[in-house]
Amino acid sequence: MSIHPARRRQLRTWSPAEQQEHLQAVATGSEHGSVTGPELLDLASNDYLSLCRHPSLIAAAESQLRSSGVGAGGSRLVSGSRPVHGQLESELACWLGRERVLLFPSGFQANLAAVSALASRHTTVVADRLIHHSLLVGVQASGARLRRFAHNDLDSLERLLQRSRSERPQTPLLVISESLFSMEGTSPPMHDLAALCERHGARLLLDEAHALGVLGNGGRGLGFGEERVTLLSGTFGKAFGSGGAFLACDSELGEKLLQESGAFRYTTALAPPLTAAALAALELIRNNPCWGRQLVERSDKWRDRMAEAGWARPTGCGPILPLIVGDDQRCLNLQHQLELAGLLTAAIRPPTVPEGSARLRLVLHRCLPDETLESLLRALSDARAA
Ligand SMILES: Cc1ncc(COP(=O)(O)O)c(C=O)c1O
Repeated sequence: MSIHPARRRQLRTWSPAEQQEHLQAVATGSEHGSVTGPELLDLASNDYLSLCRHPSLIAAAESQLRSSGVGAGGSRLVSGSRPVHGQLESELACWLGRERVLLFPSGFQANLAAVSALASRHTTVVADRLIHHSLLVGVQASGARLRRFAHNDLDSLERLLQRSRSERPQTPLLVISESLFSMEGTSPPMHDLAALCERHGARLLLDEAHALGVLGNGGRGLGFGEERVTLLSGTFGKAFGSGGAFLACDSELGEKLLQESGAFRYTTALAPPLTAAALAALELIRNNPCWGRQLVERSDKWRDRMAEAGWARPTGCGPILPLIVGDDQRCLNLQHQLELAGLLTAAIRPPTVPEGSARLRLVLHRCLPDETLESLLRALSDARAA
């Protein structure tokens, strides 16, 4: 798909001087956990729990770096496995209450593996209209027939499941959804979704990329305790502050992935320092089970205050707060004005979101200073008045 040049978001890089300043701030400990550059407060990244610069993650990665090297140097099944991979897999499995966890170098790759383990050209996949691109690529690669239901709309899903069954009674059905949609901040009604899938004999693949560490019991995601979710995918690149990803499932499906998944077998294993950092993040999240709930409570307050200030109340629940602006250029202008006020936000425009629904994707992080909300409201109000 080609993207009109005017719509291409320019990647910003730091100048060498800014990088030097940043490194010095980190070295002297004067930098705040959530600051992405020397001056801008980060309201854009997915580092929800402010862990990517947490001393425990840095220490774990550093020590693994010294003992195991930078890269794994081979695939898991040849020479790339380190004890830290097995440890992270077993501790995650235990934390999530699943029999098997397999690590992947990225969430994109984990999703490709997940779809190809559950779908073939004989399958009908019924997916939420807003699922992540990686899942769609997985469906395309599997050759399955794809139908899409209206976002989080279980009536729409049920109609499609019924139609798929009546047209092709023998077709295996796979439903794909996410537990926290990254551009909407919304979640499906998890138990009703799982029950619907069960009633129609459909398997359920749930992408927990944005929910993990934040939503559900102790941050275990919305699929926690829901046995009817066939396969969970999660990434360490968001609330876990590291990189890499995993799939969690029962032992039978785990064994199938291990034996058959090219995306698992034929790729260099997750870098050991990232694996160690993810393990350190897991320990922090396990030891601080209230972090996710506190973040959700704080983001509820942000939603209320934004609505009180006359903005459309951001949809959903949790740390992703989409401020719908509509027009692309207005959205870019707003992003620019917030940036001048010291706030880094992301203007998300088509084709990432539907035409006419350009939005500022505001993201709340655990370590943002208390006064951030006031700064944001002030900057938004100044931008509106300008
Ligand atoms: C919902 C969702 N799934 C999967 C991914 C891919 O994860 P990763 O960045 O680890 O490749 C992303 C990241 O953008 C995502 O938003």
